[in-house]
Amino acid sequence: MKKIVAYCLAMSLAWTAKAQLNTQQEIDYCANQALKTLQNLPPDGQVNIPRSIENGKKTWRLVDYKDWCSGFWSGTLWYLYEGTKKPVFKKQAQRFDKQLQPLSQQKAYDHDLGFQMFCSYGNGYRLASNAAYKKIILATADTLATLYNPKVGTILSWPREIARFKAHNTIIDNMINLELLFWAAKNGKNKNLYQIAEKHALTTMQNHFRDDYTSYHVVLYDTLTGKKIKGMTHQGYADNTMWARGQSWAIYGFTMCYRFTKNPQFLDFAQKVTDVYLKNLPDESLIPYWDFNTPEIPNTTRDASAAAVTASALLELSGYVKDAEKKKLYFKKAEKMLESLASSTYKSGTTNDAFLLHSTGNRPIQGEVDASIIYADYYYIEALLRYKYLTTRKK
Ligand code: GLY
Repeated sequence: MKKIVAYCLAMSLAWTAKAQLNTQQEIDYCANQALKTLQNLPPDGQVNIPRSIENGKKTWRLVDYKDWCSGFWSGTLWYLYEGTKKPVFKKQAQRFDKQLQPLSQQKAYDHDLGFQMFCSYGNGYRLASNAAYKKIILATADTLATLYNPKVGTILSWPREIARFKAHNTIIDNMINLELLFWAAKNGKNKNLYQIAEKHALTTMQNHFRDDYTSYHVVLYDTLTGKKIKGMTHQGYADNTMWARGQSWAIYGFTMCYRFTKNPQFLDFAQKVTDVYLKNLPDESLIPYWDFNTPEIPNTTRDASAAAVTASALLELSGYVKDAEKKKLYFKKAEKMLESLASSTYKSGTTNDAFLLHSTGNRPIQGEVDASIIYADYYYIEALLRYKYLTTRKK
């Protein structure tokens, strides 16, 4: 038995040791791009949070703190501080965090509070342990929990769409925002947040997936009885297709749920939603088209953001999976995804100041198609850091 354990350990070290990517070089590339962005942003007091750069344009589309993407920029700056240790990134992250603070106090507009406040303040607290940050995170978690419907067992993702759908709605993206609730339950007094997050994940696991483990984007529920009405899409090609980023939110979300709960159901489910994604990737680049089942393939756009989210998630998932072959597979796939993203095809370089090109935001309404998008950059730098830690940790 001891021999088998030693063999597995040796195998896993052998593949972690052979790092293909020059991770620090990639992190430094991202840092340089971000410094260029910082130089060109309008001053505070004006709308100045970068969200996306349309294909063929040079300048960022800017948003204010209310936008669902508002937290990715300071989150990215925090990761750059972590990756370079340069104080400028900490200072700038704190500068942009400040703008988001009202979100912790006002009524919840939608489920995106987690993206907005945990990518930013969550990373800020992790790296700088500022007590004021903790208070803000805990207050935001309580605000997000106000959208929970106990009859359904999920958070209402889009309160503004109640009138259109005449139903409680939950989107797969909402899985990511459970991290804020789990963290707040662990680090604050409101332990009920854990139950809410776990129940949301269990209900989603039950209702949000087809028999082959591909995800619906949106599920509608009867607000009063909690009964599922139907699954549908919003940003995918059709109700029954696999929208790439939606599936990547599922991979990331269930992996993160396992991190907090150690519930083996989540670990098992994270692998099932991963395996169908990996099996259906179009080619060796491992970068999906924006929807796996759009009939426009190959004459349509890819989604680098889905690849970045998935790469980051797989690096975490590979650390939880016990089966040595599967562990290796997930790590290798993540590594390959990062190599593709770090290639000249996907890196922005001198084309614009973002890190990556070729993400697709909302194809059905032609929004941010084949664009640079801030959440692709955020999950890319997160994945690079995760990869760096995994490939350089003490043997
Ligand atoms: N959460 C919205 C999106 O992934 O586009």
